[in-house]
Amino acid sequence: MNFELKSLDLAAAAALVSDALVVLVPAGFKPGKEALAALIGQALKAGDLESKPGKLLPLYRPAQAKSTRVLLVGTGDGSAKQVRQAVTAAVGALRAGTPAVKKLALCFATAPSSGAVRAAVTATADASYVYTTTKSKSEGRTLVRVTLGVPQASASKGEFAQAVAAVAGIEMAKEWANRPGNHATPTLLAQAARSLSRLPKISCQVLGPREVEKLGMGSFMAVARGSEQPLRFIVLQYNGAAKAQAPTVLVGKGISFDSGGISMKPAAEMDEMKFDMAGAASVLGVFRALGELQPALNVVGLIPSCENMPDGRAVKPGDVVTSMSGQTIEILNTDAEGRLILCDALTYAERFKPRAVVDVATLTGACMIALGSVRSGLFATTDELANQLMAAGEAAQDLCWRLPLDDDYADGLKTNFADVANVAGRAGGAITAAKFLQRFAAKYPWAHLDIAGSAWKSGAAKGATGRPVGLLLDFLLASQASKPAATKTRQRSRSA
Ligand code: BES
Ligand code: MN
Ligand code: ZN
Repeated sequence: MNFELKSLDLAAAAALVSDALVVLVPAGFKPGKEALAALIGQALKAGDLESKPGKLLPLYRPAQAKSTRVLLVGTGDGSAKQVRQAVTAAVGALRAGTPAVKKLALCFATAPSSGAVRAAVTATADASYVYTTTKSKSEGRTLVRVTLGVPQASASKGEFAQAVAAVAGIEMAKEWANRPGNHATPTLLAQAARSLSRLPKISCQVLGPREVEKLGMGSFMAVARGSEQPLRFIVLQYNGAAKAQAPTVLVGKGISFDSGGISMKPAAEMDEMKFDMAGAASVLGVFRALGELQPALNVVGLIPSCENMPDGRAVKPGDVVTSMSGQTIEILNTDAEGRLILCDALTYAERFKPRAVVDVATLTGACMIALGSVRSGLFATTDELANQLMAAGEAAQDLCWRLPLDDDYADGLKTNFADVANVAGRAGGAITAAKFLQRFAAKYPWAHLDIAGSAWKSGAAKGATGRPVGLLLDFLLASQASKPAATKTRQRSRSA
């Protein structure tokens, strides 16, 4: 899908010839003299158009515009959030209609508020996305070209560029998370990561079972034992700044299918455990976006990837393994495998002397129970890091919420047979999982995003969301903005 940003007032928008014209109308819109604006004014006055976000008024061949179909949409207070709701409703309605819209013009009737352009771009992409990879007839997305009209394009350039890059990253994350387990094995994920090294400033290294054994990643290896698919440990590097600048390390859980292992999951909805590499997919997506934007930053992406399967060789409840950190772990439940692969990646992260490490994982059903699908779970060992991630989530409309890390929550992880057990009781399950990880992240500021509830949707709309690519990208770019000017040479301006 192709996005372009143009300076368009309502008269210019009306003169565009496209399959559909969507006009975003905030509350308190004051119509000017041009015909389309006057029409909008009348519709508002008559109550046929409401400015509540997502309220639609479809018009067919109105004399006031050249496009066949015109959709007036209320955007409420015009905030990024309400613009997102409005665009989601509008593009959803157009998608449901016939004939298909290939060329769309999406125009703000008034100057967009901060974040609204980004919201419009990402919501348009989201509402028109179609997965095709494993269908025999690939009837994909019909929308190919989107012209985004704003009164003054120069004011939104930076935000627009970031949004377009975010869309590329989000769609890469969706693609890989959506692929079935047999089409997204650890080997295939590693190939996808390798292909990213074609982008500027990105390099990729892939380790296999022998290298991982040499590193002493006994915990990661224990999970991979039950599968015929060989594990992969993916190391991505984006070098956009001087070598001396400490990198941010992103770690993504890459379980390409989670059967639970010997502690097997029930059959219902087990297919959704193909999404258990959504954290890994989001790291790939962030690198895809970095390659496009090329900010002056250093970022490392680490992806431990394997299947979690039951087998004669599989790890068993009660087994004790030795992690790369030297800490021994009693595996009481083989379904708590995410933390077992992440802990070795967190130890590996030390070698980069990182500014911060953020891991991203579909880690616990408990987090989904706690926060639902609206906000990802956030844990952090410094307030600074927590605040930065929270703010990035707000800016990108990819929300998270901080949960606590009191040491008392780690009590349940005590065992008589190893340094730590991999599970505690059912209570506070998202937090006890984070407490387990924290033991391996003592050497740098660390945050953990539990995306169990936010990474995909179930039911009729089953599919990956591409979260939290938007959050992570904003977090990384904001860290660059706070650096001294000398390191900002390649930065595109952010109008946040
Ligand atoms: N991948 C799952 C977590 C999950 C479950 C995410 C359902 C989204 C929906 C993870 O590996 C897991 O199985 N966690 C267990 C941990 C438990 C055994 C302590 C869980 O949440 O049930
Ligand atoms: Mn599991
Ligand atoms: Zn899992």
